[in-house]
Amino acid sequence: MFVLALLSLFLATTGSAAPHHHGRDTGISGSALQAVLPSDATLSLPTSNANFLALGCGVQNYTCTGAGNYSSIGALANLYDISQLFNTAEFANVTNCGLEIWSGDQGETNPFNSGLDSLIQNNLGLNNKLGEHFFTNFNGTSEPEFDFTQSQGNAGDFTIDVKSADIPSPTDPTNSVDWLALSNVSGILASQTFRIFTAGGKQPSSCQPGSGDISVKYCAQYWFFP
Ligand SMILES: *[C@@H]1O[C@H](CO)[C@@H](O)[C@H](O)[C@H]1NC(C)=O
Ligand SMILES: *[C@@H]1O[C@H](CO)[C@@H](O)[C@H](O)[C@H]1NC(C)=O
Ligand SMILES: *[C@@H]1O[C@H](CO)[C@@H](O)[C@H](O)[C@H]1NC(C)=O
Ligand SMILES: *[C@@H]1O[C@H](CO)[C@@H](O)[C@H](O)[C@H]1NC(C)=O
Ligand SMILES: *[C@@H]1O[C@H](CO)[C@@H](O)[C@H](O)[C@H]1NC(C)=O
Repeated sequence: MFVLALLSLFLATTGSAAPHHHGRDTGISGSALQAVLPSDATLSLPTSNANFLALGCGVQNYTCTGAGNYSSIGALANLYDISQLFNTAEFANVTNCGLEIWSGDQGETNPFNSGLDSLIQNNLGLNNKLGEHFFTNFNGTSEPEFDFTQSQGNAGDFTIDVKSADIPSPTDPTNSVDWLALSNVSGILASQTFRIFTAGGKQPSSCQPGSGDISVKYCAQYWFFP
């Protein structure tokens, strides 16, 4: 444990070229990911096993532009471990179930207020919270970050990403946000992250200029690869 902590510190401090693998392995491979993607998706898929599989539930935020449409201004979500659900009947539908539960909490739009954790635990039995997803300023641009520092007890356990590919939701492109491939630019948590099985989060097609910001609830699966 102590040796591992020292090693992490060393890698984080030196920015060594060798990625840090943590010894965390879900046993779920890049080809398992390929099997759930649309067959025409041209993504560069990981060759390693996933180190984490998470259910993310939260909001996608949008602002109404002068042109009368919504543009994305970020997202917030809580991330819960779902690796134990892989190969069960609940797995593919866990995002729809999560969204139904989260949507039922009508007074709340901020996933970081503690109510969502107990809703997800009581209704889905997911009690291992891995971390939080939010947007952060990276080199002058707002980019997605996934922060597992608290659950993993390691200050380097986050990833800030840039988008490398997106495809419309294969099942519900009208209401559900795109499936994404993200590439790490900072942190040691993951080199590639995929957002799939999205449920909700899509903005209305038009808005009244000046009407301000909205938050649209969503859930998605996030697969992290070292
Ligand atoms: C909003 O509308 C403008 C002008 O038609 C267009 O250029 C832009 O791509 C649209 N943005 C989104 C997010 O749809
Ligand atoms: C998936 O979840 C939705 C929302 O909870 C539910 O309406 C639907 O019946 C579920 N589908 C399956 C196959 O379990
Ligand atoms: C997104 O919306 C939530 C809930 O409305 C709000 O608490 C949060 O500050 C917003 N975040 C961003 C980055 O816009
Ligand atoms: C940061 O942004 C500058 C200017 O856009 C760019 O030249 C540079 O490559 C970026 N650095 C990183 C690490 O992305
Ligand atoms: C993420 O990118 C940073 C900056 O290039 C790098 O130091 C780090 O090792 C990368 N993490 C992984 C897991 O590849």
